Parts: sequence; structure tokens; C-alpha cells
Amino acid sequence: MKNIIKVGIIGYGTIGMGTAKILIENKTLISKRTGKEIILEKIVDLDITTQREYQVDPSLLSTDIKEIIENDDINVVVESIGGINPAKTFIETALKNKKSVVTPNKEVIAKYGRELMILAEENGVDLFFEAAVGGGIPIIRPLKMGIGANNIKEIYGIVNGTTNFILSKMADDGEDFDETLKEAQDLGYAEADPTADIEGFDSSYKLVILSTLAFGAKVDFENIYYEGITKITARDNMYANEFGYEIKLLAVGKEIDGKLELRVHPTFVPQSHPLANIKGVNNAIYVKGDYVGETMFYGPGAGAEPTGSAVVADIMDIAYSFDTPLNRRNLRTDFEDIEIVGQGDFNSEYFLRIDCADESGVLAAISSVFGKHDVSIKSALQKDATEKGSELVVITHDVKESSILNAVKEIESLKTVFLVHKLIRVGV
Ligand code: HSE
Repeated sequence: MKNIIKVGIIGYGTIGMGTAKILIENKTLISKRTGKEIILEKIVDLDITTQREYQVDPSLLSTDIKEIIENDDINVVVESIGGINPAKTFIETALKNKKSVVTPNKEVIAKYGRELMILAEENGVDLFFEAAVGGGIPIIRPLKMGIGANNIKEIYGIVNGTTNFILSKMADDGEDFDETLKEAQDLGYAEADPTADIEGFDSSYKLVILSTLAFGAKVDFENIYYEGITKITARDNMYANEFGYEIKLLAVGKEIDGKLELRVHPTFVPQSHPLANIKGVNNAIYVKGDYVGETMFYGPGAGAEPTGSAVVADIMDIAYSFDTPLNRRNLRTDFEDIEIVGQGDFNSEYFLRIDCADESGVLAAISSVFGKHDVSIKSALQKDATEKGSELVVITHDVKESSILNAVKEIESLKTVFLVHKLIRVGV
């Protein structure tokens, strides 16, 4: 029976630092709960000289990766450098060297998780990634265990803190996207290169992970339809509020008639829905199971300490069952091919903003195109007509996405229509 577990952390950035801090500051509690002594043995980073917010004993630091992934003393490797390369190679080497791996790296798990889980199983070690989705919120383990007796029908929510911070601020301050992004960057809530967050990649990686586990399906990044938030404007927010909605970037996974619908996009969320009130960097994820009903997981979706808390929980889980044969609850490698619905077959209500001429017959022409494509209008309003034109704002009833896209194409070709702004889906 092994009573000492040694941990190596690769990457001394935000999450590596949060993880180190919790392992050191809560060492006694962690040992008491797991019955094992968990020792932070080594931290490897290319930069070990820049002062971090949380300082560790300099003897723990090294720039040599071999001191972790090829060190026989180390039992658990935390990979917290992010991205694919060299993160994936480090994870593979660690697993092959019979070390369990914990990673908050959603991109590597979304793109290579299934093969890495098989590699872990072959080597009799664990691969855990609670922190890859929802930061500090427990969601991976609940999916595998807490609600593991259910067929999951739906999993959806806000899984990106940066975009939720930006969208909340845009709504509260009536600002446009570019100025809010700049403020978020100045405050450290958005990265210097914010592409992965604002274009929806980050949410898509998380949806791959969630839907793989929730539906037991072979889901790939390419299966996710995604849109980011860069085209959302202050005017969209103004109308959203007028109609009783908040704009949120949602990741949505649904099982409908044995097929999966997987999408990430800005959404008009009714103000009465709890997701409309998730502000700042917080995340919230809904899971609907056939027997448990509807559950919601809410909390800080990013940040050193919340994410470090999830990483350390994974290390503790490994410690609990260390030296025992691999447990089926930990690694799932039994994923199935399930048909994934294409974008044209999604159904939703849609919000459209149309810049058009202010003259007779325009509304009739637009209505006629909607009618031709079976698009029924739920609400409409027209405001601010000037000599330059007017703005027609429409929310449709539930309609097939291919129908609304065809209708928009035809409306765009009308001589009296200047611009159809970005479509926004309505409802959760
Ligand atoms: N960039 C991510 C976010 C960090 O904003 O949610 C947590 O995965």
C-alpha cells in the first residue's frame, strides 16, 4: 500500500500556480481526507525566474521536463501548459511511464481525449480532467458518477467565463463588442490573443468533452457547429432587453430521436431563465437526465484557485484508489457512433435585424419571402425610420434553420433591403 503520492506540475502559469498553492496550503486537510501524503515534488516551466503571485520553494522548480515525465518517483503528472503540442506528447509519455495524468487542458482532451483514455487504460493509470470544463465547478465527475444512472437527454449552458464577462458588461453598460473586449483585456479577463474564447473554440472544446461523456458518443471538434460573439452589438442588446431576453454564448448538446444536435452560439435567453442571470466569469451548466430530471451546476468557470481546486480534487481521487486496479467509473472508453445533426436541420426561433428602405411595399415584400419559406413571425417592430431608411426587427416562431437561411438569402437580394444583420437564435 503506497502512502506517499508524489506530484509533478508541468507549466507554472495561472492553473499550475493555483494547483501548487492548494497542494501546499491545504496539505494537512488533503492528507487527512485521502489517507495519503500528497507531496508536490517538482514544477517544470521554461520560465522559472519570473516572480509569480504565489512563490514556492525554488528547489521545486526546474526547466527540465524529464524531471517529471521520466522521474520514477513521480506518481501523478499535472499537465497545465495548454494547447496541443508539446502537451499531448508530455501526457503520452507520462501515461506510458505509468503515471496518472490530471489536466485542465480542454483542447487536448477535446481533440485527443478518447485515444488518451485508451492509452491510460492500457497502462493501468488514470487520466482525469475535471478542470477542463467549468473551471472550479464539478461537472465531469457528476456526469460519470453522481448522475451516472441516467440517460442524458440535454446538456447545455455557459461554459466560457471570458465571453460571459464581455456579454454581461456589454448588456450592463450598453457598449459595443470592441470596446468591451479592450476593457476585459485591460482587466485581465481576456487574453492578449482572445481568439479561442471570442470565436467560440473554447466553448466548442468543452462541448465535445461534455457531450462525449453525457451521451457516450464519439464526438469530434468538427461535429460542433460554432459561432462566436464578435458580431453582437449594443443594438442587439437593446432589442434583446426590449423583448425580455439577455444575450448569452451557449453550448448546447441535445439528443433528439437518437441523433445529437451540438452547437455553440450567442442566444437570446429569456430573462426568466436562470442562465440569463449568470454574470461575469461564472459558468452554469444544465443537465437533464431521464430519471433525475433537470440539474444545474454553477460557479466560477475560470481563475487560478477555482481551477486549481478542480485539479487537486482529481489528484485526491487518484490518491484514494492508488494501488487498486483501475476503476470503470474513472476511464470510459466505450463510446459509440451516434449520428450528428447538421446545421440546416436545427430548429429554433430567430432574431433578425433588417436595414431596409422606408417606403411602401417593403414590409409586404419581406413578409412574402418569409411566407414562401414557411417562416412565421412571432414578434416584429420597426423603429427609427429616417430618410436613410428604417430598421425592421423580427423574432420568428420555431423554424428549421435551412428555411430561415434560405429566407435571409432571398431577403438580402431584395432591392429595398440594405443589410440583414447577424441572425441570433432565441430560447434555450
Ligand atoms: N478561457 C476560459 C474561459 C478559461 O474564459 O472560460 C477556462 O477554461
